Amino acid sequence: MSTIGIIGAGAIGAAFARALSRQGIEVVIANSRGPESLAALVEELGPTARAGTREEAAAQAIVLVAVNWSKLPTALAGLPDFGGRIVLDANNPIEAPSFKAVDLQGRMSSEVFAQWVPGARVVKAFNHLQAHLLDADPTAEGGRRVLFYSGDSAQAKTEVATLIERLGFFGIDLGSLEVGARLAQFPGGPLPALNLVKFA
Ligand SMILES: NC(=O)c1ccc[n+]([C@@H]2O[C@H](COP(=O)([O-])OP(=O)(O)OC[C@H]3O[C@@H](n4cnc5c(N)ncnc54)[C@H](OP(=O)(O)O)[C@@H]3O)[C@@H](O)[C@H]2O)c1
Repeated sequence: MSTIGIIGAGAIGAAFARALSRQGIEVVIANSRGPESLAALVEELGPTARAGTREEAAAQAIVLVAVNWSKLPTALAGLPDFGGRIVLDANNPIEAPSFKAVDLQGRMSSEVFAQWVPGARVVKAFNHLQAHLLDADPTAEGGRRVLFYSGDSAQAKTEVATLIERLGFFGIDLGSLEVGARLAQFPGGPLPALNLVKFA
């Protein structure tokens, strides 16, 4: 599988990086403070991971973005057009630690997010569970922990489904961004924070 870039190395970015590293998938991970600040995380992740600039992370075949909502415009500013590559939107329109919802004036968060990643095929995923559950063993209660994904490109979703499967989770396609991202959006959607298990 191609190298995956991660912009944002906090709770979600690091949990996703650990899940990838456990499967031997190569990772380039970036934060705002520069690669040196990620030395301990990269050491923990092992030889398939390296720290990079956000430009290096953004240049990979699949890119996951997990940055605090208010910092997303800066984190994504000035990056080259994504040229049809997959960008995973793991973000929620809230501000921690207050958990105050951001007023999107009725727009869906992935619709707003898509404007900041021109040329990307956006797939909403890895945003509905708390980070510690994304980090945990995906085999749970005798089944597999569920992850949702949605997007407007069938081919991009197939690639994301393959990735979710490879990580050991059970992926559920929620449909288009208009339908699925609304269901999985926090706050507002009915699916966030549900820790579901698929049996058999
Ligand atoms: N935490 C959860 O359980 C959870 C669950 C689902 C979804 N989410 C969503 O995931 C996103 C990230 O949440 P989190 O909890 O992982 O946040 P976090 O722990 O605060 O980490 C945020 C990361 O974003 C990086 N960042 C900030 N500005 C940046 C910039 N200009 N360029 C590159 N990186 C930048 C930070 O780097 P520095 O530290 O170097 O500034 C940090 O690594 C949010 O949208 C949140 O709503 C979180």
